[in-house]
Amino acid sequence: MRYEVTPDLITGYDMIDREHRQLFDAVNQLLDSFSDSKKTGKDQMDRAATFLTNYVDKHFGHEEDVQKKYEWREYETHHKFHEEYKRQLKEILNRIPSEGPSIQNMSEINVHVVRLITHIRTMDKRLGAFLQTKE
Ligand SMILES: [Fe+2]
Repeated sequence: MRYEVTPDLITGYDMIDREHRQLFDAVNQLLDSFSDSKKTGKDQMDRAATFLTNYVDKHFGHEEDVQKKYEWREYETHHKFHEEYKRQLKEILNRIPSEGPSIQNMSEINVHVVRLITHIRTMDKRLGAFLQTKE
């Protein structure tokens, strides 16, 4: 399966929506590297996992910068979610053995991506609506 930014996930703030698309691309690339892992091996999985964790860090940072700039009232809870999400993502990815993910690993990743989708649908969309009144 492929993850994508469906219309109900659009926040209306370009930078955020653009980065969400790239973020889902990075997730899809990681999942591809898993299904190809017999052919491409561990390096490709490691590269995709590192790219995803770095991209998530960068994107959350951008979202937080703009929240601080406009003093968004949900900043504290939003920031807490981001911190916890990054921590759990690293934990989940670190548990994946070099021979490739187990069913359990795959299920943890998918549950974690769904948590992000719920976050986008709620906190990020409220943020997007707020930012549109500012710029
Ligand atoms: Fe967010």
